[in-house]
Amino acid sequence: MDPEKIRASLSDLQITQIRYFDEIGSTNDEALNWLESGAVEYSLVVADSQTKGRGRFDRKWITNPGSGLAFSIIIKPRENEMRRLSLFAPLGALAVARALEEAFGLSPQIKWPNDVLLVGKKACGILAEASWNGASLKGVVLGIGVNISKASLSPTLLAIFPPTCVEEVYCKPIDRELFLMEILRNIINLRQALTTPEFLSDWQEHLALKNEHVMLENGDGNSVVGRLRGVAPDGSLEIELDDGTVKHFLIGDVRLKPAGTKREV
Ligand code: BTN
Repeated sequence: MDPEKIRASLSDLQITQIRYFDEIGSTNDEALNWLESGAVEYSLVVADSQTKGRGRFDRKWITNPGSGLAFSIIIKPRENEMRRLSLFAPLGALAVARALEEAFGLSPQIKWPNDVLLVGKKACGILAEASWNGASLKGVVLGIGVNISKASLSPTLLAIFPPTCVEEVYCKPIDRELFLMEILRNIINLRQALTTPEFLSDWQEHLALKNEHVMLENGDGNSVVGRLRGVAPDGSLEIELDDGTVKHFLIGDVRLKPAGTKREV
């Protein structure tokens, strides 16, 4: 990536605190350290490649050189956002989805809670982490990884969900600096509606697997099957079990119900 092009394109968004790395362990780790030493709102860490990128449930997210987008933006939640910290990861997903629609005319969906899918396959993952000092919140690090070219499709991704990359669907080269700017512009704009019903309906409109029979895995080996009904205002997933009761889940990973799976386990 070209750090000067990144700086120039982000100056209009008033993002001026940028740390760029050709290679880094994890942009989220760098941003969490920066937060400790007094980073301001919308400080940004961008890397061309990551050797120890992290995903949800401690999974690996490796970013090969020249193949993807890997960045972390620091957000200082406002008073009205404090009770809705779980919405920052979906904010990132919706911002990526909007950027894919506006810049490339694609039709992304969001697999709850915050994976962005293209043609039903995962093109982007998001890891939001909060940093606390006792009861006081220092900030949220919103880390976003997007597969851009085929070289981004590492075997570690295959283990998570069938992956794809933006260029496979768009069929033309992607300008990564421009795409980064579009995502960040959408994060800043959509954040204004974060605590409103509009944000929830925008998220619902992009929701993948709606009304499908799904399996929700909670990361520690337990799973639930049922029909995916939607997202509640607190960001939890609504699943209708086979007996008709609707349960809410705040943590987990969703996939289509594999054949033969019958009941809650
Ligand atoms: C997931 O799908 O489980 C989330 C993947 C999040 C990866 C991004 S890449 C930029 C940022 N830095 C990290 O170490 N992780 C996130």
